[in-house]
Amino acid sequence: MPYKILVLVSQASKFELDNHSIIPSALHREGHEVHVGDIDTLNVHDSVVVCDRVRLSEEFIAGGDFPSLSEPYASAEDFDLVWVLAGTHPEAGDDSFRLLWLLNQRVPFVNDASALFFLNTKINLGAVVPAEHLPASYVSNDFDFLNALVESDADRSWVVKPTSDGCGADVFVVNKLDRNRSALLGSATGNAASRNGRYGREIIGMAKRHTVAQEYVPHVRTNEKRVIIAGDTPVSGFLRFHPEHDHRSNATLGARFEALELTPQEEDFVRLLGKRMMDLGIFYSGIDMAYPYVIEVNMVNPGGLSYHTLATGEDTSSAAVNAVLESLRSAGRLR
Ligand SMILES: Nc1ncnc2c1ncn2[C@@H]1O[C@H](COP(=O)(O)OP(=O)(O)OP(=O)(O)O)[C@@H](O)[C@H]1O
Ligand SMILES: [Mg+2]
Repeated sequence: MPYKILVLVSQASKFELDNHSIIPSALHREGHEVHVGDIDTLNVHDSVVVCDRVRLSEEFIAGGDFPSLSEPYASAEDFDLVWVLAGTHPEAGDDSFRLLWLLNQRVPFVNDASALFFLNTKINLGAVVPAEHLPASYVSNDFDFLNALVESDADRSWVVKPTSDGCGADVFVVNKLDRNRSALLGSATGNAASRNGRYGREIIGMAKRHTVAQEYVPHVRTNEKRVIIAGDTPVSGFLRFHPEHDHRSNATLGARFEALELTPQEEDFVRLLGKRMMDLGIFYSGIDMAYPYVIEVNMVNPGGLSYHTLATGEDTSSAAVNAVLESLRSAGRLR
């Protein structure tokens, strides 16, 4: 049955071959009434959540112009479903999430607004992934604690990463014997000692910042897979390869990728994880997995469909959006 669906994206001048063009196009192709809205125009007008939007009349093409959002401040509530495909602007802070939450009280989301706020962060990975599938992990804003942890064993290395950044930004590997260790841990936790020393605690105030430290998993280098999960079904993804002199394999940073293959064991695990995520209000995500470990879960705009197409020439976007809608129906979230 056709649905009326609002896809929230960030406005750009041109479409790339990414979710912003692929997912609305697939929904349109499957016969749904698709409207594209700009997430940074969400406002409340006389109690109604509104945004700038436009109805899709044909599929988007990578390289094509982004359409003019010809309906300014139109209702965002008059829909069967909202699919959030963009992060809110960092300057907008928590207010964007509050607006999304309000909208989500009135319209079902593919990924609940509360999940986007609380679970799309490396802090809460343990709420999504069972503990036995996580590398040893710490969330801390305490330089001394993390420095002592890393110093305690030269045979263990750690990956420190920002709690909510992405695309490989500020993801560092640290080890007791690395002379960069202390400086990197200081940077990751806000350089509180340096800033207090320079300006004085009374002037600079609270400088500590949280970071995530995950034990370095060596086989990530040989078996890292991005898996796109729709409901409880793996629908797409890719194998990741690390550049020789980088410990990160983000495709956005130019790392090589190939078509995804899952072992039966990996597929069973992904389906189990998908079911867990459905219970948490997450129906479309991309995980970074080096079985048995999951090192990351992305819920806003997980890259996968485009890289699968680039690697194989096959477009799986219709099957992916159909699996999302079917899983939302089976969970009673859609008519
Ligand atoms: N615990 C780990 N052990 C080994 N390598 C890791 C580990 N954590 C991260 N990496 C490597 O660093 C890359 C980037 O880390 P991660 O995916 O956690 O952050 P990100 O890519 O910046 O976030 P996002 O996926 O949200 O864009 C991973 O794809 C992986 O190759
Ligand atoms: Mg990642």
